[in-house]
Amino acid sequence: MASRILLDTNRYLGIAVMGMRDSGKSAFLEWAGEQYYHHGWIICDLFDAGDYENLFWCVKDRKRYPILLLHPRYVSVEAPDDYVKPVPDDTRLSQVLREADEERRVVCLSPGFYRGEDYWETLARILWVLPEVNRDQVKRNILVLLRESSNIAFSHLRIYRAESQTRKAILRFMRVSRHYRTGFIFDAQRLTDIYKAIRVLIDRIIVKKTPPYTLPDELQFIHRSIEERRAQAAQTIGMDNAWRLYPPISALYPHEFYAVWPDGFFTKLTNPLPSFRHKQPEDSFTELSGVRFTFKQPAQQQQAVKPDREARRLERVSTIMALKQKGLSYEEIGRQLGISKSAVAMTLKRFTQRQLAASASP
Ligand SMILES: Nc1ncnc2c1ncn2[C@@H]1O[C@H](COP(=O)(O)OP(=O)(O)OP(=O)(O)O)[C@@H](O)[C@H]1O
Ligand SMILES: [Mg+2]
Repeated sequence: MASRILLDTNRYLGIAVMGMRDSGKSAFLEWAGEQYYHHGWIICDLFDAGDYENLFWCVKDRKRYPILLLHPRYVSVEAPDDYVKPVPDDTRLSQVLREADEERRVVCLSPGFYRGEDYWETLARILWVLPEVNRDQVKRNILVLLRESSNIAFSHLRIYRAESQTRKAILRFMRVSRHYRTGFIFDAQRLTDIYKAIRVLIDRIIVKKTPPYTLPDELQFIHRSIEERRAQAAQTIGMDNAWRLYPPISALYPHEFYAVWPDGFFTKLTNPLPSFRHKQPEDSFTELSGVRFTFKQPAQQQQAVKPDREARRLERVSTIMALKQKGLSYEEIGRQLGISKSAVAMTLKRFTQRQLAASASP
């Protein structure tokens, strides 16, 4: 029989949370992340809506967790105390994860610190290398949290060119993560768009309040089954009690949800709010955390990119191009350079994108 433990920290689960706005998705994700944290997992909270929600682990209001705050070099970050440790996002991921592990810090990456496509490139880069870095170097249990995932994977990105690269990175990550001691939880208002590609990778679906028509076809059965169970229970315990036991999906409170297992088993459960402050719409991250950050001016921005890094990047691109001209495949080039086939392709793609961007700017 499949395990009925909701958050089985002995396995590398893929968990999807769905529900309409304000249905309690993010609070579930945070509460679940906390459980994993206390079981010794490294938590990587890598996406929010740009409102710094995923940095609230460190705010001073209630219980706090120390964080590693990844940021681009064109943003300078001042931390108010030891709960926030700013780390440039080009730091080696193995180092980031090791520090997170040793200092018990949550790794946070928020789009609110980025301009344009930079965030998507950073997220894609992290997700591409995270599984192998963990397998070969870090060797810890890792949980990746991705909020508002329909934004990431499918619609929002179309206005950015980074779409296919980031989308591919997410799908690949979800496919391979469990083989590299890594689990993930993501939330989305609707699963319908993304469900087909990922349904085999999902071990639990958390259904928060939502109109039944937003359920993917494969999940429609729970809506019908809840109605049946309620009607049946009403005959013995009365309608009020039956309603409390099996509320319709569209009437769930934020702390309630139905959890669905891949074999069709489902049950109604509840989760409390996380013990740290869950972001309320009016909350200001900078006020509550004391973190100060500034975007540097363009001139400083250029200085901030290390010249040797740029030189290394160009050198690598020209090596790849030279090998490609010799007729080597991406795989063979990757083998020579000690990087993956996809890293070769991505290096070239990024270079082309930068060239295009440079030629398009006045
Ligand atoms: N377990 C809970 N117990 C009590 N209140 C809760 C709980 N979970 C959520 N809430 C309340 O519901 C509000 C919305 O929750 P949350 O931000 O998690 O929703 P969401 O589904 O992520 O919304 P959005 O789609 O806007 O991101 C919270 O601010 C909180 O007030
Ligand atoms: Mg949310």
